[in-house]
Amino acid sequence: MKKLEEKIKSCKKCPLGMLRTNAVPGNGSYDAKIMFVGEAPGYWEDQKGLPFVGRAGKVLDELLAEIGLKRENVYITNIVKCRPPNNRDPSEDEIKACSPYLDRQIDIIRPKIIVPLGRHSMSYILKKFGFEVEPISKIHGRTFEARTLFGKIIIMPMYHPAVALYKPQLKEELRKDFKKLREILDNV
Ligand code: SF4
Ligand code: URA
Repeated sequence: MKKLEEKIKSCKKCPLGMLRTNAVPGNGSYDAKIMFVGEAPGYWEDQKGLPFVGRAGKVLDELLAEIGLKRENVYITNIVKCRPPNNRDPSEDEIKACSPYLDRQIDIIRPKIIVPLGRHSMSYILKKFGFEVEPISKIHGRTFEARTLFGKIIIMPMYHPAVALYKPQLKEELRKDFKKLREILDNV
């Protein structure tokens, strides 16, 4: 993983590599049972080289704390490892260039549970494991069981924590989904 992280830090496979301050490979435990996969680094992530350290990160920390988890118990990363200008959505080409890194991270960590945060991440992860993509409003908090060479992975898409900043009712949905995540975690 360390080698992979070094490779990501110097990657220039897509144009975002020219625009970033720091690439954000991911952080947390390499033995984590849960992987959280966000979308792409924002301003603070780009400044610090760490995932979810801005306002959305505060929400994520709060949700983790509510179910008794710390960052060092989980692994947190994004589908795209460099910040898109003005925080625009990552393009299809950027996702295509960058996602092999995420695929490799999943193979190394072998998580029991993957939580895609937001619709881009949900869409990538569900397609990767052969599931049909549906609107996040419909499938957040639902579980999908993927079979892999190293066993079963439970996929549980959730809203992106950034939505909780401007839609309080979605924060409640996130809270409920996290409670459900706690129950699943206790049984894997
Ligand atoms: Fe490389 Fe991904 Fe950064 Fe593009 S976004 S330069 S593919 S690490
Ligand atoms: N939003 C994301 O999707 N990822 C981060 O790392 C920060 C904000």
